[in-house]
Amino acid sequence: MTPETKALEQKGISLKISDKDFEQLRDYIYNVCGIYFHSTKKYFLESRLSRRLEATGCRSHSDYYQYLKSGTTGGVELRKLLDEVTTNETCFFRNPPQLTALENKFLPEIVAQKGKIGFKKLRIWSAGSSSGEEAYTMAMILLEKRSTLLKDWIIEIVGTDINETVIAQAKLGVYNSYSVRNTPDYYLKKYFKEETPGKFHLAPEVKRLANFSQLNLYDDNKMLFMKSFDFIFCANVLIYFDTASKSKVVQHFYNNLQPYGYFFVGQSESLHGVNDKFKTVHFPGGFTYNK
Ligand SMILES: C[S@@+](CC[C@H](N)C(=O)[O-])C[C@H]1O[C@@H](n2cnc3c(N)ncnc32)[C@H](O)[C@@H]1O
Repeated sequence: MTPETKALEQKGISLKISDKDFEQLRDYIYNVCGIYFHSTKKYFLESRLSRRLEATGCRSHSDYYQYLKSGTTGGVELRKLLDEVTTNETCFFRNPPQLTALENKFLPEIVAQKGKIGFKKLRIWSAGSSSGEEAYTMAMILLEKRSTLLKDWIIEIVGTDINETVIAQAKLGVYNSYSVRNTPDYYLKKYFKEETPGKFHLAPEVKRLANFSQLNLYDDNKMLFMKSFDFIFCANVLIYFDTASKSKVVQHFYNNLQPYGYFFVGQSESLHGVNDKFKTVHFPGGFTYNK
């Protein structure tokens, strides 16, 4: 037992979660956002919840469940809980084969398609963007094409996440060494300024290309408004969902993607058993989906 846990238990706050409370809170979280905690994740949830019990002064998990459901906090507590239970691991240039294929194959292809009809606007969505590294990686890659392939094009990059804390970090655009560890030197030198040791500030022209907002991918009403994307990235997000919640969210991505667009997932993910409408398109070192 950690000294913090001991101190809380001495205050009469019970941090050990019973099976019944685990199931109740697990189902509540699942119904709100699609994230499913298998029983093997009980201790992960227990430890994350302990911080919320302490902050709210609830003495047990069942008290906390009632408090969450009561709506007295106007959704504030739910957002704090979601900030605790989501995993936000990310970095710049996370999936190099995917980025190379985007740059050399899929981007020129879409630019040619849209160019033919004179519609020079590109829309990209980083769904489950965490603190923005994925969206800003895209922004840097596209900035490099500003005077060639993308001359006179309007570029819109949208980053969304359920977690408010990471969205605030994305808007700030300041990163540590761990986030930039895979960033090629060329990009690091050109688009970041190390203001103080280990604090990398993103260049304003990169920040300007991406907009971030809080969005729950499991919210059907909000998802209906995320229209007409040429590229959708939802990498390392659906791994926390079960098959039913994955299917529901992926159907929205399908509807929100342009007919010639591409949908990208993470390196070790696939839509097998989740969606049979998307077609697989292979590229060296990975694959993507289109309609
Ligand atoms: C591991 S990060 C992935 C970040 C980035 N896409 C990448 O591949 O590096 C997963 C992100 O998905 C977000 N997430 C989980 N469930 C979500 C939901 N229902 N709606 C929106 N975002 C969600 C989490 O908050 C977290 O920031």
